[in-house]
Formats: sequence, structure tokens, C-alpha cells
Amino acid sequence: MSKDISVGLIGFGTIGSGVVKLLQDNADLIRGRLGARLVIKKIADIDIETPRPVSVERSKLTTDVQEVLADPEISIVVELIGGYTHAKTIVLEAIRNGKHLVTANKALIATCGNEIFEAADNEKINIGFEASVGGTIPIIKTLKESLAGNNIDSVFGIMNGTCNYILTRMTSEGKDFESVLKDAQALGFAEADPTYDIEAVDTAHKLAITLSLSYGKRVALEDIYREGISKISPLDIEFAGELGYTIKLLAIAIRRGDVVEARIHPTMIPFDHILASVNGNFNAFHLMGDASGSVFLYGQGAGMMPTASAVVGDLIDISRDIMAGTWRRVPLRSYKKDQIEDIDLLPIDDVLTNYYFRFSAVDRPGVLSKISGILGKYDISLSSVIQKENNLDRDTGVPIVVTTYKAREKNVRMALEEIDNTLEGVVLGKTILIRIEDESLR
Ligand code: HSE
Repeated sequence: MSKDISVGLIGFGTIGSGVVKLLQDNADLIRGRLGARLVIKKIADIDIETPRPVSVERSKLTTDVQEVLADPEISIVVELIGGYTHAKTIVLEAIRNGKHLVTANKALIATCGNEIFEAADNEKINIGFEASVGGTIPIIKTLKESLAGNNIDSVFGIMNGTCNYILTRMTSEGKDFESVLKDAQALGFAEADPTYDIEAVDTAHKLAITLSLSYGKRVALEDIYREGISKISPLDIEFAGELGYTIKLLAIAIRRGDVVEARIHPTMIPFDHILASVNGNFNAFHLMGDASGSVFLYGQGAGMMPTASAVVGDLIDISRDIMAGTWRRVPLRSYKKDQIEDIDLLPIDDVLTNYYFRFSAVDRPGVLSKISGILGKYDISLSSVIQKENNLDRDTGVPIVVTTYKAREKNVRMALEEIDNTLEGVVLGKTILIRIEDESLR
């Protein structure tokens, strides 16, 4: 007779239902691979009345989280309530009670990871958090185990399905941000309050976790530069297309000697790069290891069964250690505890990259030379210029699009400030800036 490993679930929403379903549907397969049955002993949620897409014995449901946390038979607690206030209290109590943990909660790991990991180390607890970054995609295992022999030279990720869905539809339909967002909300592809997704807070959580696994460092979330997608317009998407680029919200980590560059912003990437073909609500990661070279991971970053797949993978992983009578072999952040340090991130001012600027300028002789004069003063060299003729009124402003060779962010900001402030009557409105990643992706 095979052994049973008891699991307690806290949070019985979409992902919780997916976990229950997967453990039911693939029970024989999982027992065959693990040599034990993974049995859900208790499920706690504030709402145990609303019907779920899975059937569970009523006796397993409770509104009292203590029935999970204090049950001595439960070996692994799955936390799926989200947020980092209540969830943190629950997780720390589970750890104190000697329970291993699986979570999909990126906000919790990104914000309170140091404290939680330390508590887990002290109590010899294992924590699986594969579902917290990239949903179903095995990015965490890839960084912690498969690429453990590599220096990670760079990570470029599309880590937010909502933003990718919106940008994909803006690109294919030529619609503006607001109308696609509304439509995405109506279709359930965007939250009623989409701020976390569209302002890149969700992506920052995921990049912070990715950075700590890639470089063995603690990252202060607020040190990661981030810009969301709400200012992207159909006009910029169209010009990007003319230049051979598509616009994606990219999370970027690049190793620069002893420091790491970490930033999140809408980015123009070449059509022929593999990340440019990641459309709809899919997520993807393009990693560069110094031995592996290019590695590409692609899949669903959210959703009931894709996320449940990652959670159940972690449950099996931890259960294998339980079955083998060992504590976890792989450190939580991939590095030994005494090797973890605070990270030095390159300030955004010092980033060197290529830029796209869209000026709104009157269509008169000498305007371009005034703009390029100021750019030149700040050591910003132009690589291309596009200007469309305005046959109607030369004073209402036409878009002048400029792309640059590599320039320093600080210089770019100073130059644009000077252009926008001193060329009054010539440059109308605030200049649009979008960063371009091209060579760095090769
Ligand atoms: N809200 C996230 C997204 C999914 O849109 O990708 C959960 O991380």
C-alpha cells in the first residue's frame, strides 16, 4: 500500500480549484511518479458556499484557517489567497508549525521573501513558488537547477499576460489603449482594477524574484525602474512597425560586471526576435547563460490549470524529499544562505540603450536641426529620422520620429527636457520616449 501525503489548501478560488482538479484527474499518474498519494485533507476559504468547478467532500471545507495550520497530519500547506498581509501571517505560522509550503503569491515572495525564507531555513522548511513567476512556465526550476552552472548574462521576459494581451490587440487592430483595456476587462482578460498589471507592479514582483534567483541577491522592489503601458499609442505602434519593431512590456535583467541592470518598460524589439512572436496573454522568458547560450521558455502565465500545473509540480517536488527522508537539496534562492547579498542595481540614469523619440513639431525649415542640435549637445547620435508630410496645416504639428545609437538615459532625459522647454512654439507637447532593445537581445 502506498503512503499518503496530506496537503492543506488555503484559498479555494480559481487556482485552488485547479489544484484540486489536477490532483483528482491525474491521481494515478502522480502516485506512479511519486510513490505516494497526494491527498487534500482540508481546504480553508472565507467562502465555502459558492459552487466550484470541482467537487469536494463537504467535510473537507472550512472557514477556519487553523483547521489547516494546526492539523498535525498535514505536511504541506498550499497558500493561494494572494496579497502580503494576511498571507504573510498564515505562511509564517505554517512554517512555525513545521509545514512545508507551496505558494503562487509573487507579491508575498517579492515583498516579504527575506523574512519568510529565513524563517523557513531556521525551521528546515521547504517552499515551492514556481507558480509565482510565469504561471505554468518552469522559470524558477530552470534558474535554480538546470542553469545552475551558468552565469546568467541576461533575462528578457514578457511576464504579464494582461499587458501582452492589450499590446497585441492594439498592434493587430490599431485601437487605442483605453478601448482595448475596456474590452479586455469585459472579456475577463484584465482585472476590474488593472493598475497592478498595467503599471507594471506585477511585473516588478516577478522580476525581483527572477533577479534574486539569477544573482543570489536580495532586491529592494522600489529599486527596480518600471514604466507601464498606459501611454503607448497606436501611432507609436505604427512607427515601430515601420522601423521593424514591435512593442512589448519587457522585464530586463542584464549582468554588467558587479552590478545588474534591472528595468521594466515598454520596449521596441525586432520583429524577427523570438519574443516578438509572443502574443495574446502568453508569457515568455529569453535567458542567456554564459555556457548555455540562448534559452527560451514560453507558456501561459496565469489561468486555472496552467497555474495548478506549477503548484502541483512543487507539491510533487517537496513530497519526493519527504519520501526520501531528506531536507531540500536546492536552496530557496539557489545560492547557499551565506552567499546571499543585497544587490547593486545600476541606476536608470546610467543605463545605455537605443531610443525612439516622437516629437510633435511644426513643419518648418530648421526645426529638425534645432532638435538634432540639442540631442548632439548631450552626445546623442541619430540613427534614423522619419517625418511625414502634413499637407493641411504646417503649424499644427507633425510627428518627427528619431531613433538613436546607444545613449545614456540621463543625457536623454536632459536633452528631452531642454527640447520640450526651450523649443516652445516649435515642439508642441511632450516628447514621447520608448527604449529599443536590439543588439542586447542577440
Ligand atoms: N495578472 C497577471 C498577468 C497574472 O496578467 O499576467 C498573474 O500573475
